[in-house]
Amino acid sequence: MRKPIIAGNWKMNKTSLEAIAIAEELKRDLVDVGGVDIVVCPPFTALQSVSEALTDMNIAVGAQNVHWVDNGAFTGEISASMLKDFGARYVIVGHSERRQYFGETNETVNKRLRAALAHGLTPIVCVGENLAEREAGKTFDVIKNHCEGSLAGLSGDEAGRIVIAYEPVWAIGTGRTATPQQAQEAHAFIRQLLEKLFSADVAGDVRIQYGGSVTPENIASLIAQPDIDGALVGGASLKAQPFATIVKAALSSK
Ligand code: 13P
Repeated sequence: MRKPIIAGNWKMNKTSLEAIAIAEELKRDLVDVGGVDIVVCPPFTALQSVSEALTDMNIAVGAQNVHWVDNGAFTGEISASMLKDFGARYVIVGHSERRQYFGETNETVNKRLRAALAHGLTPIVCVGENLAEREAGKTFDVIKNHCEGSLAGLSGDEAGRIVIAYEPVWAIGTGRTATPQQAQEAHAFIRQLLEKLFSADVAGDVRIQYGGSVTPENIASLIAQPDIDGALVGGASLKAQPFATIVKAALSSK
């Protein structure tokens, strides 16, 4: 049985004071909730304050990116050991916004992923097609390319420690959620691919989140699908109440 995992990606939002306020509210709302992994991913600048606010709580903290080198002359970059120093346990890698706006490629995603694993961080690896690719019937080709490229060279043991987020780009921030059937089809495809690339055990263990316009209203039908193990939530994670509702609904509908 895979434990559900709900993560909030706050993207480039929230000062550290605003972030602490949400963290405190989540703490109150979710204190008794078990049986689901809960993660919030604030911007780098609020990582430490949110980690401190959530010390010893059932809500883990993640970052939104990581550089693959540990330290050195890489102006503006942040390493895995720095993230750990700030209390991060997860890190998102290869988000489509990074692929689209910041030149992220499978190769750099792979380097970030390996650095995260080497430091004991759990990477949340994002894959997914854009609208033109879906309309051209290339959805599975793109997912395959993202998975094979991003996970290249990983051992089965390493692959077993990652989380994958299927985030169709056309569903991100658009209010146009993938239907549960569309998402399930993509998730099942990813799981079959994991079996081919690694093993049946890895395919059975790795948790695959859906991301793209997840809300308190649609989470139940998504998470009810057999291969959907959680959600990576953007907009609806920017306030405590909808995010907490998503976490609870995910738990009761799985
Ligand atoms: P939205 O939930 O705002 O569509 O964002 C999804 C996302 O990109 C999470 O990483």
